[in-house]
Amino acid sequence: MIDLDALGTQALGKIAAATDLDALEALRVEFLGKQGSISGLMKTLGAMSPEERQTQGVAIQALRSSVTDALAEGKAKLEAAALERKLAAETIDLSLPAPEAPLGSVHPVSQVMDELAEIFADLGFAVASGPEIEDDWHNFTALNMPESHPARAMHDTFYLPDLTAEGREMVLRTHTSPVQIRAMLAAGGNQPLRIIAPGRVYRSDSDATHTPMFHQIEGLVIGKDIHLGHLKWTLETLLKAFFEREDILLRLRPSYFPFTEPSVEVDTGYSWQDGRRVVGGSGDAEGHSWMELLGSGMVNAHVLRAGGYDPAEWQGFAFGVGVDRLAMLKYGMNDLRAFFDGDARWLSHYGFSALDVPTLSGGVGVNA
Ligand code: DAH
Repeated sequence: MIDLDALGTQALGKIAAATDLDALEALRVEFLGKQGSISGLMKTLGAMSPEERQTQGVAIQALRSSVTDALAEGKAKLEAAALERKLAAETIDLSLPAPEAPLGSVHPVSQVMDELAEIFADLGFAVASGPEIEDDWHNFTALNMPESHPARAMHDTFYLPDLTAEGREMVLRTHTSPVQIRAMLAAGGNQPLRIIAPGRVYRSDSDATHTPMFHQIEGLVIGKDIHLGHLKWTLETLLKAFFEREDILLRLRPSYFPFTEPSVEVDTGYSWQDGRRVVGGSGDAEGHSWMELLGSGMVNAHVLRAGGYDPAEWQGFAFGVGVDRLAMLKYGMNDLRAFFDGDARWLSHYGFSALDVPTLSGGVGVNA
């Protein structure tokens, strides 16, 4: 009969004396491995009488579990000691430069949207939004373009194959103007409004100055005594802040939009310098060309009504600006299509550092 106590003492002693993980693993194999001495004892359990199992069996099991525990404990201790040694031996050289991670850049359109939102925030405008898949009531009808209105044909509209639950046709919004209607309805028709709505719009059109998707910012101000003078001041202030110069030339021309009455088209004066259009200049229009910048006007009574406002009590102005055009003008780019090509080289040249908080003085090609 094997002396279990002696075997236990021997095993625990060897385990306690093991100085590395390999030695410990060798001991595990020696005692608990397939051919191990304790495993061998376990195999004898089957042949024992019930009485023997009561005494011998229990003792063998106890031996096995104390050796198993001792191995686990020894392993934990050796691993902790190994980590201690490693930490003590390793030092970190904090003066080493970190490997440079490739940095993305902010697209000029995003940059300009941020700049515009910042300027309008200073003027007390909140940002509103609406869906890009719009129904034709919000996109056209409510904006005083009923079905078969010729102005609908001015927008090369993408129609979707399905109808809304209410049976309305669905379109990719052709302008940000439907957000006017949504904002008015959300406001409940009984409070002043001052919002901008930046976002993507879609038209079936493509050449050097038109892309099927482009960006607009809509503006809407509703109050009881809002007039064209407020519109002019707002646009002047906007352009001065955006182009970062005081000498902005502004020209308001009578025009037609279904959603405004009267409607004005707003031009800004520019001159050519080093092959680039430069906005602004001295007060005399001499030597300047005019460029159409945006559409605007006093909100049409039909539109106010569709938005839940009583035109006998409320009035306001609205405007819509092409963001891409503003970006091209400010940062001297000439092909609109490059905006949407996703060419990483173009972006690293014209993009803005993602680490700069958007400012009005951000420069071109910060990452270049
Ligand atoms: N929605 C017009 C367009 O995309 C732009 C526009 C013109 C918006 C006049 C307005 C406005 O709010 O008053 O062509």
